Amino acid sequence: MEKPGNRQRATGSRGTPRLEETGLGSRGSGLGAPSPHPAALPPASGPPPVTAPEVLASKGKRRLVMVTATDEPSGRVADAAGVDLVLVGDSLAMTALGRPDTLSVTMDEMVHHTRAVAAGVRRALLVADMPFGSYQAAVADAVRNACRLVAEGGAQAVKLEGARGEEIAAIARAGVPVVAHLGLTPQSFHRFGGYRVQARAVREALELVAQGEALQEAGAFLLVLEAIPAAVAELATRRLAIPTIGIGAGAACDGQVLVWADLLGLSVGPAPRFVRRYAELGRIARDAVAAFAEDVRNGSYPAETECYPASPGLALELEKRLRRA
Ligand code: KIV
Repeated sequence: MEKPGNRQRATGSRGTPRLEETGLGSRGSGLGAPSPHPAALPPASGPPPVTAPEVLASKGKRRLVMVTATDEPSGRVADAAGVDLVLVGDSLAMTALGRPDTLSVTMDEMVHHTRAVAAGVRRALLVADMPFGSYQAAVADAVRNACRLVAEGGAQAVKLEGARGEEIAAIARAGVPVVAHLGLTPQSFHRFGGYRVQARAVREALELVAQGEALQEAGAFLLVLEAIPAAVAELATRRLAIPTIGIGAGAACDGQVLVWADLLGLSVGPAPRFVRRYAELGRIARDAVAAFAEDVRNGSYPAETECYPASPGLALELEKRLRRA
């Protein structure tokens, strides 16, 4: 996989998607603070939650930040850092479950992890990936499984890979905002013959841009572009009215996403060229656990201050009674 840059207001040959097509209803699209459901609990203090219509309306105004998360702590930390979107990506198959690729992760597992992340996210828009096999066989499956991620997992939007206009339209019609994903779509790595940069040739690049336009027309409110040349992502970003989020797609995208474990130095093996590691938490954690082991072995842990004190004379009294028994 690779990386790259810039952004511009898209003129989009097909224009901004209609709200009813995006599944966003009439209250969205940057029309100010969303009105809560009349029966909703009062909002927690702090900045208002990010909504799908706001994300859509951010095009050309600000850069979007998305990061993946796999559980409550990663969701909580990402949210506290002020990202716009948290993605429960199916990459958790590798980063949290130790699998070789994303193909085996199930709907139940995605619901489970989404629910955990949702417990930690207050402000960011929570997007959940639809796993391999959950939307490919039938449009009805796609709608049912998208609804599960929302109803059971607490997701506020779902993401699915590939040129799936029919599925995206049906999910959006069901009221669920949809993120599309083009370029290197990892669920299709067998078809690509590996994790290869996509849309390098003119024909494929034009096809990708056309697919982006079709998915926008179908109702996607956001498009992830993965591992494509920067110039192709720039063209797509310029032509589309919906924002693009790049991962290995250059700086011209409307926003960027990185995988939690890559960003924080928790992943192993060679990283793709677009990964920038902002911390080495794997090393820090290993050193911390090794220091704990050392302290246990040399008797310096726990110290007296780390123990619960007994009332005066307790030890003596216990000795006395045990001697009598
Ligand atoms: O699963 C994932 O983490 C993703 C991102 C790479 C966009 O889909």
